[in-house]
Amino acid sequence: MSERTPRPVSASRVEMTQLVQPPDANYLETLFGGRLVEWIDNCAAIAAQRHAREKVVTASIDDLHFAVPIRLGDIVVLKAQVNYVHRTSMEVGVRVERENPRTGERTHAARAYLTFVALSDDNQPLSVPPVHASDPDDRRRAANAITRREFRLMRRKALATADP
Ligand SMILES: CC(C)(COP(=O)(O)OP(=O)(O)OC[C@H]1O[C@@H](n2cnc3c(N)ncnc32)[C@H](O)[C@@H]1OP(=O)(O)O)[C@@H](O)C(=O)NCCC(=O)NCCS
Repeated sequence: MSERTPRPVSASRVEMTQLVQPPDANYLETLFGGRLVEWIDNCAAIAAQRHAREKVVTASIDDLHFAVPIRLGDIVVLKAQVNYVHRTSMEVGVRVERENPRTGERTHAARAYLTFVALSDDNQPLSVPPVHASDPDDRRRAANAITRREFRLMRRKALATADP
């Protein structure tokens, strides 16, 4: 298989499950935001690695909004996949759900988009295969990822001009 042969979105998918334990919670007995960011970054890194099959680093994490509190004892389900590949960078989307341990009811809790860059052995950005989105949902995610990338680049340019 050539290095540029597209890989299916499904090859990158990750589902990770965590239980909120006392060291993960604050005095309100809800999950620390920072702990959730750690779990999101881990889950997304595995998705990027599964796609690239190279070492990867987190280049950026977009805005993160916490929709509902996640409580001590809740189950947290994180689902990640590579949405889009540019050249050396990949956008990974992560959906976070809060699962009630008694009822099994799941509630959307957060969503995050992260950019990972694949690196060569000498730590230079390395080109990775494109991702092949075969169903309408994955095609929509890829189209949205392209729009988000354009916004990211515009934002970085504006910030670099404002604060060189
Ligand atoms: C990410 C990193 C490898 C990019 O290096 P660089 O010298 O800027 O490389 P380039 O300018 O060639 O850019 C490489 C790719 O990264 C993307 N990129 C660079 N900085 C980015 C950022 N802040 N957000 C999103 N994408 C970024 C570029 O758009 C480019 O993508 P493309 O090849 O798909 O078009 C480098 O900034 C780095 O090592 N950062 C630290 C990463 C790290 O330690 N992460 C853990 C944080 S604790």
